[in-house]
This record gives sequence, structure tokens and C-alpha cells, in this order.
Amino acid sequence: MLSFIYPISVDLNSMKFTFLDRVVDITMSIISWMKTTTVAATRAIVEMIVMSWVAFYCFTKTLILTLTPSGMRAQKNLRGKVVVLTGGAGGVGQELALRLARASAKVVIWDVNEEAAQKVKENIEKEGHKVYHYTVDVTDRKNVYKNADLVKQEVGVVDILINNAGIVCGNTFLDIPDYMIEKTFQVNILSHYWTVKAFLPDMLRKGRGHIVTVSSLTGLLGTYKCTDYSATKHATLGFHESLHTELRTHGHRGINMTVVCPYFINTGMFAGCKPNMPMLEPRDVAKRVITAIRRNEEYVTMPGWARFILPLKNFVPAKLAWAVTYRLIRSPQSMMGMRAFQETAAA
Ligand SMILES: NC(=O)c1ccc[n+]([C@@H]2O[C@H](COP(=O)([O-])OP(=O)(O)OC[C@H]3O[C@@H](n4cnc5c(N)ncnc54)[C@H](O)[C@@H]3O)[C@@H](O)[C@H]2O)c1
Repeated sequence: MLSFIYPISVDLNSMKFTFLDRVVDITMSIISWMKTTTVAATRAIVEMIVMSWVAFYCFTKTLILTLTPSGMRAQKNLRGKVVVLTGGAGGVGQELALRLARASAKVVIWDVNEEAAQKVKENIEKEGHKVYHYTVDVTDRKNVYKNADLVKQEVGVVDILINNAGIVCGNTFLDIPDYMIEKTFQVNILSHYWTVKAFLPDMLRKGRGHIVTVSSLTGLLGTYKCTDYSATKHATLGFHESLHTELRTHGHRGINMTVVCPYFINTGMFAGCKPNMPMLEPRDVAKRVITAIRRNEEYVTMPGWARFILPLKNFVPAKLAWAVTYRLIRSPQSMMGMRAFQETAAA
């Protein structure tokens, strides 16, 4: 089986599926055209045949790409690419910044924590890479636009935007102070509107770019002490997918979008939780995010099998889902020790 698949995968991979993807696009256009011309019965039969072929092609392509060793898959070069990374001073952010700099990208860290960002910058520069840091509170729309202009003047037009900054409060619903609910929404989702508005127009003008959304598995599944956090992460998926739909509908094929949904990461954000599986390490998450960017992957869960959470959640009867969550996985119990975090309320 593998010896049959590998030669094909290499061959198809070297042309990055561009030709076959184009064939699929053209076929879909033909269907749309037929809708306006052909009689209903013929149209339905042809549509069915064509959609079967499209489904076969998409599944086969996915299978081939999954089985192709990483080194043999087409990956884009990050050399010289200007990457704006929000939350670049945090656990995942600093690993991303380091690895992107090692890949010769021009990394621009946006973080509200000036001291931590300065340290990250110094560590990366010790390895001989250039890195830029701007103190930006991503919840402050005007500050975002002002700094976006500065980055364009001082570093260059942005090729890749990684919306990674995030916070969590870690309280059950009635114990979350109102200002923390607002703050969590401001950092985790509203900021995406400001940063994307700041950089997308240049990407559209150039006809290429990449927007990365760091979401979470709690964006697929709500959980204990996460009424605020999980809601914002669900929102990131909705924002990301809707924007993706708009870009595709309007033919902006050069703008790639990647959304990443990781399980717990060992950065301190979920300190006190006792999950069933070991937490992910920030360096592994950073490596996976960069691979996803280089391969233009659209949807990444960590671990990979977690992508089945959503179909399972929708398929399994609600009572069974709860029994599995509470009795088997003991997900709420694992979150009970989570440390509560509060920023000082704004005056
Ligand atoms: N840690 C986890 O278990 C986990 C799991 C899934 C997803 N995530 C997501 O991964 C991303 C990175 O998380 P992390 O664990 O590295 O968190 P972290 O707390 O280590 O880092 C977050 C960074 O965001 C910055 N930040 C916070 N508010 C900001 C603001 N207003 N403006 C600019 N920067 C701001 C912080 O200063 C910090 O440097 C987050 O979006 C998080 O929600 C984390």
C-alpha cells in the first residue's frame, strides 16, 4: 500500500497539487454555470458525479499528504518574511519567536509585558538573530493601528500575523469579576479584529499573506471554570472561519489562514489543573504551529486525534457525552484546582 502511495505523493507533492486543485475549482464553476443552463434532471446527475469525484480527490489528497514524510512535503520558506506575533513574550510566544527567528523570518513581538519581551529579544539576539519588539496592548484599538503603521515603516509590510496573546481568569461563572469577563473578551477575541484590520489590507494588495489564530481545544468543547475563556476561544473559531469564507468567496487564494487548537500547554496559564494526559510543551506547540504555517495547513489540533472531538460531541447523545466527561475523563474535576488569576481593574 505504502509503496503504491509514496511515489504518487512525491510526484503530486512536487507540483503542490496546484494543477489538481485548479481542476476541482474549474469543475465547481462548471456546476454553477450548469445551474443556470441545463435541465434539472441532467443537472442533478452531473452534479452528483462531479461531487463524488471532488470528495474522492479531497480525501485521497489528505491521505497522501498525511502519509508523506514531513521532509518530503512542500513547505514555504520563511526567510525575510515579516511576522507580527502577539503575546510573543509568553510561554508559547517566546518559543515561536525563537524558532521563527532561526528560520530567518523578521520577527516582530507585540506584547504588553515590556520587561518579559525585552528578555525574549535579548535571548534571541544572543543567537545572532535580529528581532523587533513593540510594547502593544492589543486590546487598545488605536494603539494597535499606531504600532501597525510603525512596523510597516520600520520593518516592512507584514507577511504573517500570529494572533497568540491570551489570558484566562480561572473562576466559576459567578465568581468572575465583570471587568475580567470584559478583559478576557478584549484580549482573546476583540483584539483579533483590530490586528487583522491593521494588516489584512496590505496582504490583499500584495495578493498574499497568512493569518494564524491560536485558539484552544476549549474552543471546541466548553469546560469547568472556563465560561469566559472557552466562549472567547469558540469566538476565535467563528471569526477565523467566517473571515476564511469571505476571503475564499472573493477569490483571495493567496491569503492563507491557519487555526490552531491545542490541549493544555505547560506555560503556567492553567497552573493547578490536573489533566489526565501530560500537558504539551510550549516548544512542541511552537514547532507544530510553524510547520502548519510552512505547509499552509488550515486546521490543526494538538494532539491530532482531538479533531474528532467536534464530530463526536455532535453525534453522541447528550447524556452519554456528560457521563464520559464527568465519570470517565473527569474533565471538570481536573480543572477544580485551577489557580484564579485577576488583573487589577481599570480605574
Ligand atoms: N497554556 C495553555 O494551556 C493553552 C492551551 C490552549 C491554548 N492556549 C492559548 O495559547 C496562547 C498562548 O498561551 P500561553 O500559554 O503562551 O500564555 P502566556 O500567559 O504564557 O502568554 C500570553 C502572552 O500574552 C501577553 N498578553 C496578555 N494580554 C495582552 C495584551 N492585552 N496585549 C498584548 N499582549 C498581551 C502576555 O503578556 C503574555 O506574554 C493563548 O492564546 C492561549 O489562550 C494556551
